[in-house]
Amino acid sequence: MKPQRVTWALEDHTRAKHEILRRYLQAWFPILALGGFPRMVFIDGFAGPGIYDDGSDGSPLIALKAFLDQATPIRAECHFHFIEKDEARADRLHGCIGTLFAARAKPRNLHVRVHSGEGFEQVYAEALRDHPRNAPVFALVDPFGWNGMPMTAMRDLMNRASGEVLVNFMFEEINRFLTHRDQPDNFDALFGCPDWRKVTALPPAQRKAGIRDLYAAQLVSMAGARFVRHFEMRNGRERTDYYLFFATKNQKGLKKMKEAMWSVDQRGGMAFSDATDPGQQVLFDGSDLTQLEGILARRFSGATADVDEIERFVVEETAFRETHYKGILKGMEARVPAAIQVEACREGRRRGTYPAGTRVRFA
Ligand SMILES: C[S@@+](CC[C@H](N)C(=O)[O-])C[C@H]1O[C@@H](n2cnc3c(N)ncnc32)[C@H](O)[C@@H]1O
Repeated sequence: MKPQRVTWALEDHTRAKHEILRRYLQAWFPILALGGFPRMVFIDGFAGPGIYDDGSDGSPLIALKAFLDQATPIRAECHFHFIEKDEARADRLHGCIGTLFAARAKPRNLHVRVHSGEGFEQVYAEALRDHPRNAPVFALVDPFGWNGMPMTAMRDLMNRASGEVLVNFMFEEINRFLTHRDQPDNFDALFGCPDWRKVTALPPAQRKAGIRDLYAAQLVSMAGARFVRHFEMRNGRERTDYYLFFATKNQKGLKKMKEAMWSVDQRGGMAFSDATDPGQQVLFDGSDLTQLEGILARRFSGATADVDEIERFVVEETAFRETHYKGILKGMEARVPAAIQVEACREGRRRGTYPAGTRVRFA
């Protein structure tokens, strides 16, 4: 339900989203700084008032603090664009930013702009125009519903040297309104194609996957993402509240986003999982780690593979992280009969370790 007041209560599922944003940005700024980029751009497309009823930070403050709290100060010019259509919320956000910089010095290389009155769809292009094409852009797209976040905007944001988007896809509401007679134009814009109409005819279980997979496919084919993963947030009633879609062209970005996802606190009656691959719903609490053995066994059955190739597969095509697979290989090697055998490795390798250059054969 859309709140009418300027601020509203912070819910558990929003807390999880914030934790992911915070952890990702804590890694994003220094990675790009080390990469030598002289300028970085953060766009919060649906910024909100900057604060919740209980005083917790909203996404703009979380992003600013992720920048300010770096142990090694970031020297690049960092531009934050906060787009908030509602004037009263934008005023509150101004106030929150003012309070932050009354308490802490504002670095000269930090540039903050609040855009209000108009919406994300109207303003994002203007924000992008301020910056050269080679400046990395990270955009958070976090609406209440589905309007005003067209796939063309995702394409323009991704169409940068290092463009990434984190989109809150309000599945429950989108699903509910998909057949509403006033909405076809809005859904055409959201998906960037008319194909969502085919999904409406599917039975409920397939319809959910159909909606989600169409959006993911469009992020690749239309927006130009190389990697897209989606993360499902279920509420206490076991219903899907929303999907977070992360789209990037960069493997390092993908690794860091997964690291952020795997570190989210799962308490509070919600379940947060990676549902990108059919038949592989993976909870981020570690309880599903054993799934990875089956995934590796199926993918490499009877084949030999270099650890680099295994790692690339794990990072790019599964819900798991680069830190997960070596422990699984160790278990597979130790088993009797062994599920993998080391075919080549550097001299002096210890059993159960898989340094670069190790090749294994899967049973
Ligand atoms: C879900 S809230 C954002 C919460 C915020 N990202 C956070 O995590 O703290 C969505 C916000 O988008 C604003 N909004 C609604 N339509 C908009 C539009 N077309 N463009 C930009 N902001 C819009 C609403 O006023 C609301 O404050």
